[in-house]
Amino acid sequence: MIPSSLLTALRSARRLVVFTGAGVSAESGIPTFRDALTGLWQRFDPAALATPEAFRRDPALVWGWYEWRRMKVLQAQPNPAHHAIAELARHVAEFTLITQNVDDLHERAGSDAVIHLHGSLQQPCCFACARSSTTPLAVPNEPEDGRRVEPPRCTHCGGRLRPGVVWFGESLPATALNAAFDAARRCDLLISVGTSGVVYPAAEVPHLAWTSGAVVVHINPQAAARQAEREFVLRGPAGEELPELLRQAFGRALGARG
Ligand code: OAD
Repeated sequence: MIPSSLLTALRSARRLVVFTGAGVSAESGIPTFRDALTGLWQRFDPAALATPEAFRRDPALVWGWYEWRRMKVLQAQPNPAHHAIAELARHVAEFTLITQNVDDLHERAGSDAVIHLHGSLQQPCCFACARSSTTPLAVPNEPEDGRRVEPPRCTHCGGRLRPGVVWFGESLPATALNAAFDAARRCDLLISVGTSGVVYPAAEVPHLAWTSGAVVVHINPQAAARQAEREFVLRGPAGEELPELLRQAFGRALGARG
C-alpha cells in the first residue's frame, strides 16, 4: 500500500533524486554485496579482491574476478526497476540518478547522465599512471570466479590496467561526489533503492537530502521501519515497488507510449 501523501509528494516534486545500490540490479541476476547467502562479500574476501594492496599482490587474481563480474553484467538485462527509474525522469523538471553500482544497467534502460559514485566495470584505468584506457575491453571469454587473468597493459606507459572502480581505502571521484551531494541538498524528494546504506561517503546522500528538507523514500525488501517525519518505506523488491509507484503516481504502466 503506497501512502497517498507519498504519491502527492512525488507528483508535486520538481527536483527528484534516485539513489541506487546493488539491490536495484538484484532482479537482473547481479549479486548484491551483503545479502545473507547470496552477497558477494559472504563468498569473497574484499581485502583480497577490492583494495590497491590486493592488486599489487596478485593483479591477475583481481583482474580475473572483475572480468567475471563484467561478464555477469554483460549477460544481464535491465529489470523493471531500471526501466521505471528511466521513466520517472520524464515526469519531473529536474532529475538526478546517483548510483553506487559499477554496472551499466541504468544506461541500458535509457537513463543518461548517471552519476557513478563507485566507478564503472567498463572503464579501466592504469594502475601506474592513472590514465583512463581508451581501448575498448574485449568480451571476456567465460572467466570463472577465482581464475587468474593477466590485466592488459596501458598504451601510454605500459603499466597494468586496473578495474575503474573505487576500492576500499580509496577516495570517490570528487566531481561525481560533489554533484551527488549538490543534487541531494537541492532536491524535493529522494528515492533510495536497494542499498544497505553502510558504505560512506555514498550513504550520506539520503541523509543529506533529508536534513535539507526533502521527502525520503526507501525501497528495499529488508528496509527498517520508518524512523522520521518525511520518511517513507516501501518494503519489497525494487522491480515491483518502483513500477507500482510510477503507475499510482502518474497513471503510467511501464512500456506505455504517448
Ligand atoms: P549491499 O549488498 O550492501 O546492499 C544491498 C541492499 O539491497 C540490501 O539492503 C538488500 O536488502 C537490498 N535488496 C536485495 N534485493 C533487492 C531487491 N530486489 N530490491 C530492492 N532491494 C534489494 O549493496 P550496496 O548498498 O550497494 O562498493 O553496497 C554499497 C557498496 O558496498 C557497493 O557499491 C560496493 C560494496 O562494497 C564498492 O564497490 C566501492
